[in-house]
Amino acid sequence: MRTVDPLSRRVALAHLPTPLEPMRRLAAHLGMADDALWVKRDDCTGLAAGGNKARKLEYLCEEATVHGADTLVTGGGRQSNHVRMAAAAANKLGLRCTIVLGGAEPSVPSGNLVLDELLAPEMVWAGTLDYYGIEAAIDHATRRLIDEGRRPYAMPIGGASPVGALGYVRAAQELREQHPDVDLVVTADGSGGTHAGLAAGLGNHGRVLGVDVGARPDLDVQVPEKATETARLAGLAEPTGTAQIDHDRFGAGYGEPTDDAREALDLAARLEGLILDPVYSGKAMAGLIAARRDGRIERDTNVVFLHTGGLPALFASSFAEWIKTRPGGN
Ligand SMILES: Cc1ncc(COP(=O)(O)O)c(C=O)c1O
Repeated sequence: MRTVDPLSRRVALAHLPTPLEPMRRLAAHLGMADDALWVKRDDCTGLAAGGNKARKLEYLCEEATVHGADTLVTGGGRQSNHVRMAAAAANKLGLRCTIVLGGAEPSVPSGNLVLDELLAPEMVWAGTLDYYGIEAAIDHATRRLIDEGRRPYAMPIGGASPVGALGYVRAAQELREQHPDVDLVVTADGSGGTHAGLAAGLGNHGRVLGVDVGARPDLDVQVPEKATETARLAGLAEPTGTAQIDHDRFGAGYGEPTDDAREALDLAARLEGLILDPVYSGKAMAGLIAARRDGRIERDTNVVFLHTGGLPALFASSFAEWIKTRPGGN
């Protein structure tokens, strides 16, 4: 009997493979070898302005279709990139979509919310809730839809189920083909699903450094658990080693701007013409810079920074003043 490769069961939503580009000027600034620092452009996945969630949604939407779902349901924080992209995927596939957002509806939409308005999913404002409060609100919305006679497919925050994480097993394979000698991939950890998929795909936790952005309280448990489950689902061996997560970069909390993220945005923009965001990719780059400065990343370590997207949040009104501050005050 022929077995089906679990990674082949996906709907095409993303522009793949994403480019892998050298960052020579940033490498020089950080005292790294000329060809040691690269950026994997998952901000260029295409779906409704791109980002890492397109890869996860390819697998999640395939499962939704197999289950005969008519509605995608998910949730996140007010500036969630995942809900924006889930709404786009639903529209593309002719499904309905319900998104649950933490907080209260602002009087004027900005950032991701402008795109959410345009994509027009059903939006449920759930009030101030923590991570697992939003997960519970997603369950609640799903049950309500069932009562209304719909066939919902519920996705956790960030699409962080093992099925969603298969998207990053595939990304790890893609990266290996582009650069067989990668020592370390640095990524933002929100729900931890991207990190888990990468660790499963690379087969070794030591090859991934996740930078906690302050969204999920139990990443240290979730990342290794999800990596193991994802590897099993992909038919791979459990990744070796211990998950590496930097918990020192999120400052006052999720979505709260930090000085070292501001410096990271500045260096990426001025040296590489690369735009990062304050919530995810800026904090991840700040984690990479810190690891280089304290020697965890060496001069010749082959590092790939995973640019996970998030650009729309840069246009959120809450960051308008912060972006005018320049690192070092100049
Ligand atoms: C732009 C961006 N980068 C990184 C992440 C983190 O990915 P994950 O939730 O898989 O940890 C997210 C979502 O949470 C995101 O929207």
